[in-house]
Amino acid sequence: MNVVIRPDEADVTRYAYEFLRDRMNRKRYRVLGLPTGSTPLRLYRAVIDGFKRGEVDFADVHTFNLDEYLGLPPDHPQSYRRFMETNLFGQINIKPENINFLSGLPRDIEEECERYERAIRELGGIKLQILGIGRDGHIGFNEPTSSLASRTRDKTLTRETIEDNRRFFERDEEVPRWALTMGVGTIMEAREVLLLATGRAKADAVAAMIEGPVTTMCTASALQMHPRVTVVIDEAAAAKLNHDDYYRWMADNDARMVGYLEERRRRFLTGDSAQPEAAQKQ
Ligand code: GLP
Repeated sequence: MNVVIRPDEADVTRYAYEFLRDRMNRKRYRVLGLPTGSTPLRLYRAVIDGFKRGEVDFADVHTFNLDEYLGLPPDHPQSYRRFMETNLFGQINIKPENINFLSGLPRDIEEECERYERAIRELGGIKLQILGIGRDGHIGFNEPTSSLASRTRDKTLTRETIEDNRRFFERDEEVPRWALTMGVGTIMEAREVLLLATGRAKADAVAAMIEGPVTTMCTASALQMHPRVTVVIDEAAAAKLNHDDYYRWMADNDARMVGYLEERRRRFLTGDSAQPEAAQKQ
């Protein structure tokens, strides 16, 4: 895992936006997996600003959202579909037919989940999957004990998740107890993963995901088995990491590696045996 620790939420957002912009423009990623929640909200604002500046173009981009509450129609104020319309899709040039969502009111749950998996496959798979993380270490709605090989399916939410999501609902309304969600196995097939976490409340989940064992008790820990994962967190979310020194050291040195290698090659090719400057400083 590439662990990136930034001072605060604003910096996490900047990093995540530049990461996404780079993948869309340089790597031509056209199929994105997107999360909801409060964490990606700032990123979506940055994306809208970037779109207005002409830095990102969604004309031929397809999106797949991770999950949807079961029982909510698409235009329900608290449906994830509506959340995405309000906070992103309504303000960029994505084509409505390129937006993919799990239905909150499917006639047949199994068929709906299979349809989603098929739609992802037909577009050649998700290139960049963006994720948040729940306090119990879940990704999507893959609650603890979810199979790490799970596919898109229905899940019963934990009491903790229901409590966490209650704040988004009107006073009298109940947060749904079930959701449809991409499985951990579905998420693991994305070419690249970018996970964002901010705030002290996420520190335990972040530590378990990065430094704990791979376990169904923290489904985000499955990402340790994925070859291209970048985790961007603020200092508060990094507070419980034991090896944060190494992640910072790694970030410093990664930035110097290309220059160092070029210098070594130049010296080798020109027969200059003196040590390059970067190595002397070590
Ligand atoms: C929900 C979503 C997840 C999200 C999590 C954390 O459970 N299904 O995709 O990562 O909430 O949300 P927040 O970013 O609001 O803390």
